[in-house]
Amino acid sequence: MKRIAVFASGSGSNFQALVEAVNAGTLDANIRLLVCDQPSAAVLLRAQQARIDSFCSSPKDFADKTAFEMEIVQQLKSRDVEFIVLAGYMRLIGTTILQEYPESIVNIHPSLLPAFPGKDAIGQALDAGAQVSGLTIHYVDSGMDTGPIIAQTEIQIHSNDSRDDVQKRIQQAEHICYAKVLQELFTKETTNASP
Ligand code: GRF
Repeated sequence: MKRIAVFASGSGSNFQALVEAVNAGTLDANIRLLVCDQPSAAVLLRAQQARIDSFCSSPKDFADKTAFEMEIVQQLKSRDVEFIVLAGYMRLIGTTILQEYPESIVNIHPSLLPAFPGKDAIGQALDAGAQVSGLTIHYVDSGMDTGPIIAQTEIQIHSNDSRDDVQKRIQQAEHICYAKVLQELFTKETTNASP
């Protein structure tokens, strides 16, 4: 069973979907910690209700980003976390965490990368008049939504769609895909590790 931490900054609907997949037995993982950088984020309440530990802090509580990330690494290591799942975490992961978790951090982004990286990917897609967008699950590197792509799902955008319509459709797909792709990844890793 993979020991994971989820990093999130906002509502946490993806976090919730992962918790439900674990509870349903479709994701073979143990969510050891929620890392959050926004004290008022709804995801913290979700963690509390799911009885999952959370660590909430932001770089401004520390001398610099390195000190902030060293504290996060300490929180992760003290719970034997092996793998990090970003789910709406609105911060770039820095070298301190990247070096401790090589090829062990993934992110979900609401566009078909490399199209529309960064903030408000859905707004960017609508502004560009895209008829297709979707979601991407990818490994995390030091760039903004630039790491190697693991999986993508397309979502159609209709001409009369509001921003909310598109966001709802993408998030529904995210909630199904993230747990599924993680499960495939963890199963593959276990198989590869076998003699
Ligand atoms: C998701 O759409 C994800 O793709 C993006 O941030 C959003 C987080 O939503 N990275 P939620 O907090 O999981 O509801």
